[in-house]
Amino acid sequence: MTSITRRMVIAGGAALLSHDVAAAPTASTSASFSGLHTYALSKGMFFGTAVDNALLHNDAAYMAKVSEECGMVVAEASFKWDQVHPTPDKFAFEQADDLMTLAVRRHLRVRGHTLVWHEAMPDWLLKELSPAEGEDILTKHIRTVVQHFRNRLTHWDVVNEVINPEDNNPGGLRTSPWLKALGPRYIDIAFETCAATDPGALRVLNEYGTDYALPWEEKKRGALLDLLASLKARNVPIQAVGLQAHLDASQVALDQKVLNNFVNSIAAMGLSIVVTELDVRDNNLPADIASRDIAVAAHARAWLDPVLACPMVLGVLSWGLSDRRSWLNDMYKRADSLPQRPLPLDADLRRKKMWDALADAFVSAPPRTPA
Ligand code: XIL
Repeated sequence: MTSITRRMVIAGGAALLSHDVAAAPTASTSASFSGLHTYALSKGMFFGTAVDNALLHNDAAYMAKVSEECGMVVAEASFKWDQVHPTPDKFAFEQADDLMTLAVRRHLRVRGHTLVWHEAMPDWLLKELSPAEGEDILTKHIRTVVQHFRNRLTHWDVVNEVINPEDNNPGGLRTSPWLKALGPRYIDIAFETCAATDPGALRVLNEYGTDYALPWEEKKRGALLDLLASLKARNVPIQAVGLQAHLDASQVALDQKVLNNFVNSIAAMGLSIVVTELDVRDNNLPADIASRDIAVAAHARAWLDPVLACPMVLGVLSWGLSDRRSWLNDMYKRADSLPQRPLPLDADLRRKKMWDALADAFVSAPPRTPA
């Protein structure tokens, strides 16, 4: 095995291009390699992960890996409405501030997730949200939260998961408490308030379910592109789209042409793209660990290649760094109750084939000017 230096990575060393497992860095040999962020940086991108606050406080080994592999972090929960604004007149930033402190200490950039979502809404909000009060509640929340982190965040997920064509609303918008109270203009208000409060943080619309050539995802991509076109036409200050990329290793409807056309259509509107929550669930695969790891890695790579081919893609974050903790074990339990293996590191914090897939995908991607 030839050793691969950072200089070779930066030069885009062809050694990592191979899909041949023997030629790619493996869990046992890659300990001395650069972290994923270095691979991303070599092409002008970034790599990061979501961090759960329990890990932040209790798992030093995990957090050391976050420093080693990442250039950016996002909180799994602690910036969400129910966390930072638990009662009408109380804002609570302690948990979020803990992540900020760590990020400063370790030179990590931070993305804010998320200002407006139909989940993580505290009871008081669901009760008080009305056509009469809605705009005041929304703008007060955004002004206060965005002001608290002003000049310290790289991105804000301004709105999260606003599209759901199955709800049959005009424009494919989701039937959320926000849509009910304010109509579609809640999206404009959110972007405008965020822009006015911290103009320096990239303003992102974050969405899931745009990954596969399935009829409902085709509808979702169409509705998303229509919404983006209408926001741009009305000069709503959106700057980027977040693709969550919660993938399913058993899904065969992955069409690279469809994906590449989709990201290029977003880019053609002058919008950037961030892969915000990458993970690959294996709950529909047989138990064997080696074959699960191969399938997860191959699936991630097959999705990443046509996406990273678009130079408007700024970087990738995974929703957790190690299989030690993943929301997928709550959300999509395996029938055999085995823990899933959806992330770049295994539960012992060793690099897996999914790590190789990410490193290789960065090496294969065309270079771009860093954001
Ligand atoms: C999830 C967290 O991972 C869970 O721990 C939490 O209970 C619920 O939210 N899309 C998103 C994320 O935008 O905020 C979600 O995070 C995962 C799906």
